[in-house]
This record gives sequence, C-alpha cells and structure tokens, in this order.
Amino acid sequence: MFSKEIYVARRSKLKSSINKEILLFLGNSEASSNYPDNTYIFRQDSNWLYYFGIDKPDFAAIIDIESGEEIIFGNDVDIDDIIWMGPQPSVADQAAEVGVAKTAPLAKLESVVRDAAAKGRKIHFLPPYRNHNKIMLNSILGLAFGQMKEAASEEFIKAVVAQRLIKEPCEVMEIDKACNLGYAMHMAATKLMKTGMIEQELVGVMEGVAVSGGYMTSFPTILSQNGETLHNHTHHQILTEGRLTVIDAGVEIASHYCSDNTRTLPCSGRFTQQQKDVYTIVSEAENMTLSIARPGITYREVHLTISRLMLQGLKNIGIVKGDLDEAVAQGVQGLFMPHGIGHNMGLDVHDMEDLGENYVGYDPDQTRAKQLGLGSLRMARMLRAGHVITDEPGIYFIPALIDQWKAEGHCKDFINFDALDAYRTFGGIRIEDDLLITEKGARLLGSKRLPRTVEEVESAMAE
Ligand code: GLY
Ligand code: MN
Ligand code: MN
Repeated sequence: MFSKEIYVARRSKLKSSINKEILLFLGNSEASSNYPDNTYIFRQDSNWLYYFGIDKPDFAAIIDIESGEEIIFGNDVDIDDIIWMGPQPSVADQAAEVGVAKTAPLAKLESVVRDAAAKGRKIHFLPPYRNHNKIMLNSILGLAFGQMKEAASEEFIKAVVAQRLIKEPCEVMEIDKACNLGYAMHMAATKLMKTGMIEQELVGVMEGVAVSGGYMTSFPTILSQNGETLHNHTHHQILTEGRLTVIDAGVEIASHYCSDNTRTLPCSGRFTQQQKDVYTIVSEAENMTLSIARPGITYREVHLTISRLMLQGLKNIGIVKGDLDEAVAQGVQGLFMPHGIGHNMGLDVHDMEDLGENYVGYDPDQTRAKQLGLGSLRMARMLRAGHVITDEPGIYFIPALIDQWKAEGHCKDFINFDALDAYRTFGGIRIEDDLLITEKGARLLGSKRLPRTVEEVESAMAE
C-alpha cells in the first residue's frame, strides 16, 4: 500500500474532474470456486485499490462531490471471524490509513445510497464485471442486470481512465519491480527448457516464481508449442526437437502491479534456419517499437509501422509480394498478426479493460478499425509520457485462416499462398516487452531485458 497522501491526492484529483453528485465504489468480495468456503485467490478491484488501497473483501465507499464527504463501508470482525482469520484491524483504522475519516457498516450502504437517490442525486458507478457487485447494484439501485453496462457513468469512467492512464512515479517503481520478477520467471523457463519435458512442468516452475516472489500470475500462463493459437492455455504436450514454444506470462506482485512478457524459444535450444528467418523479423519489429514510441506518435501509427516492417521481412523470404504501402492499407498483416501491437498495463495486465476497451485505448477522435488485427488493437492512443504499454508483435501461421483467405482470394495480390505451404506446421512467434513512455521516447520496464535476439536466446538456453 502507498502512503495515505497518495490516496488522498488521487481522490482529490478525481473529485475535481467530476462536477457534482455521488460516486459509488464497490470493492470485490470473495468468489467461490467449487463450494462456498473454497474460494479463488482473492483479487481486489483495481479501481478500488487505486483510490482506497484496502486489499480486503467486502468494502464499498461513496464520495459526495458536493460536500466532499467520503465514507468507507465495511464490517468489523466478530469472534467467529477472529477464530478463523486471526485478529484484524478495525474498518476505521484501515480507512484512516488511506485518509478516510468516516466509516459505516456495509449494511448501511444501501440506505445511504437510496436516500441520496431519493433526493434526486445522481449515483455514478463504474461498469460491474463480478456477479456479486451486479447483485449489489440491482439491490441498491434497482437496476436490471442487462442495463448495468449502459447505466454506468461515462463521466466517471472517463475521469478514472484519464487519471490511471498516466502512471505516477510510485506506480512505475512497482511496475519495475513486477518486471524484475517477470524476468526471473521467464529466465527460470529459459534455463530449464529441453526436449522431452512436458509443457506443464515449465508452467509450474514459472508460476512458482510468481507466487513465491510476488502474489500470483497476472493472467493464466500461455506456454505452448502451438503458438499459432494466440491464447493457448493447454500445456500437455511433450517438447519436441524442431518446434518452437511461445511463453507469454507475467507476474502480479503484492501491490498488484503487473508484468507481461513473451518469449519464443526453440525447444532444443537451437533455432532451425527457417525459424531464425521468421524470428528475426519479429525481434527486429519488437525492437523498433522501442525506438519509435514517444510522445506525439499514436500507438496506432506504431502498429502500422511495425506491420510494414514485418511485411517487408516476409517479402524478403518470399511469402508476401507487391507494394507494401498498399499491402498495409489492405490489411495483409492481419493474416500473420491477427492482434494489436499492445495494450495498457498497470494494476491490471490489460489495464482498466473493465471500464471498456475503447475508453481506455482510443482517443475521442479515433475509431476502431474493422480489419483483422488492427481491429484488435487495444491501445491506439496518442502516446504521452507516463503511459505504460506492452510491445508484442508476432507472426503466426494459422492453417485455418490461411485456407480461408486463399479460398476467398482475400489479398491474393499480396500473398504467395504456395510459399506458405512450407509454414503450415511452423506454429507462431511472439515477443513482448513492457514500455514506459518518457518525455522524449520510451524505456523498457524492469532492469534487465530478457534474451531477445537469436544469439541471445541460444546462448541463454545453452547455459
Ligand atoms: N494476456 C496476454 C497478453 O496480452 O499478452
Ligand atoms: Mn503477454
Ligand atoms: Mn500483453
């Protein structure tokens, strides 16, 4: 948790960006896995963490913009709780740690909010994503479940996004720490990987690093020789000579800030020539983002510049043909990279996506493209100092997608479909690092960069 002054200042800034009325914050509750008392690891809501810091279930708060009053709602423990959980600080003491003087039992929330609504005050709330909080909103405000997304406050969403998009120095320090642990997590797999192992063995070792040095992973680990399946969460295959493994994994440290890195490793420790050719295209593209990302360029432009560079590489090896500017305009890159170059990262690995991807990743004058790949770009905004973003280009050979484009003749003037036959069992390659946009450019988060070039990867795996 940060110092009290940080939370007070954040709430004060939020209050100054919304005109009047009442802001309602709902923290998260425990969520049951397979029976009521067997819960998933508790994960607090990130907006709650940002403004109120308390990392415990069953808290809520309101801020009355007009009077400036802030109330935290939560329940003090009783003797039954103490038997199972041990002694706990009082709600008042926890609230004081984040600079809130007034507290009340959680059961009071409903009447306080209802009284305010009855007086004609608008209750601003953020889009709920957990069923427990949807039930809460249904009970407090009488909202139907299907209406909640639309009824959430756009003004509140935009104010939170504007604030959380620009990371404070104390947040950057935490993200640097997360990336350092993410480095250790990936290096554990890099050093251990060899043919004959089962993918899951590496997953277990990596997740052990995340849990023992932090809190948990920042998302379910992707580790697969079928890297062409973008989010492959199965890990049962035996690592085989001649194949590549995509490892996309991150940590969430105790403060809940995240890391997100991807490396693609040859299972045997050595790339084949065909793999080197494609790998080098991706690693150069990934590195180019670091050199061109800076305030004043949109991440959409970066996505398109990187796409062109990758198409140039694919043209050099005979897969792509024709005019590259036209190829980029037609969206040829979507066949090879059907996702965007990156997303915001912070307290969430895909930061603030609970608030709506377009609010987070698009400036008001930007509209989301429909094209495959560009349409999945989660962060398109004009870059500003303080943004924390991922840089994750990839090239994948997805047989079903290749067959579909070929059958439809889609972009046929730019793709040498015959040459693609030699890549049908190639899999995929993705490389991902995390960047902080600075006043003049960008820097990598974390103090060390994971092995990235062909030579660096082979040498790290040989150690
Ligand atoms: N959650 C995987 C990624 O965005 O890299
Ligand atoms: Mn990732
Ligand atoms: Mn990512």
